[in-house]
Amino acid sequence: MSSPLHSVAQTMVAPGRGILAADESTGTANKRFEPLGIPLTEEMRRRYRDLLFTTPDFGSYFSGVILYDETIRQNGNSGRPFVDILKSAGSMPGIKLDTGTVPLALGKPDEKVTEGLDGLAKRVDEYVKMGAMFAKWRAVITIDTQAGMPSDACLNANAHALARYAAICQAGGLVPIVEPEVLMDGAHAAQSLETSFDVHERTLRFVFRELAGQNVRFEDMILKPSMVIPGQKSSNKAFLREVADATVEVLMRWVPAAVAGIAFLSGGQNDEDATAHLSEINRVAKERRAPWPLTFSYGRALQHAALNLWKGDDANASAAQAALEHRAQMNSLAARGEWSPDAEKQRDLVPSR
Ligand code: 13P
Repeated sequence: MSSPLHSVAQTMVAPGRGILAADESTGTANKRFEPLGIPLTEEMRRRYRDLLFTTPDFGSYFSGVILYDETIRQNGNSGRPFVDILKSAGSMPGIKLDTGTVPLALGKPDEKVTEGLDGLAKRVDEYVKMGAMFAKWRAVITIDTQAGMPSDACLNANAHALARYAAICQAGGLVPIVEPEVLMDGAHAAQSLETSFDVHERTLRFVFRELAGQNVRFEDMILKPSMVIPGQKSSNKAFLREVADATVEVLMRWVPAAVAGIAFLSGGQNDEDATAHLSEINRVAKERRAPWPLTFSYGRALQHAALNLWKGDDANASAAQAALEHRAQMNSLAARGEWSPDAEKQRDLVPSR
């Protein structure tokens, strides 16, 4: 029953390892660089990614890295392709396949649907030839209860696109990361923990119905969900344990046991919260005997400290790499349910948000 895709998926979520999301589109990379005064050029993006991927012990924490189209075609400072640099470090290259979001036609204002299905099988072939082993597609779900968001139309369109993408990946030889993100930041995001739970529940119900409808093999995919957290604009804050209980509860209700693993996004949480939540989620998952490994696939909560130390100046490269390594270590502990605030304090050269 073990297929080559299943062993890739299992390796992606092997104990204590997670996935680095470094697939920021040029627009998103510019948004992160601009406030730090880093030139918005392809060369600076290349140098930044080189810094990340050549961090000491990279492969012991990161089973894989999600790359953007520009990056998968680039070489590191050594002149070797990034794909080879990652493979030699023991980390698998992955590729972002969606082409971003557009407004959902006839949807509520601010509802989005993710595009990128046209010609996807050909692109998958091309990326497999370049060495990609897995892929990602992100759907974005915004909550605004007063405006009736998310609508069923929005959940349906996004779930269907995720399922078509996942099927095309599996047919073409890539493990799909299926990422339905329920936003916790952004213009609305005033939802309580309970509302977040309800919307996660509806979202996962639509997503797994569509995945089943497209014959996607659950054992050959990874789910990348958001955590069940109150919105950033909510006046109610939640305790670690409440977030962990709600997150594990909704996943156990709707995610089939056959799914190879779950790798969370950080979604705008600060670095330490994203780690603390993951650790508590793993403790609760162990108590409740959840069937899948639960790990991290963070972008911002892994890179924030490193980028802010680097600031575009290679004289800061080793401090930035130390910051990434520290966050990687902390999240690796969290993926085993073994992180504690004391572990965090062992290093304080890393500025936290
Ligand atoms: P964040 O962890 O910054 O939410 O990014 C993860 C990701 O891959 C978003 O698509």
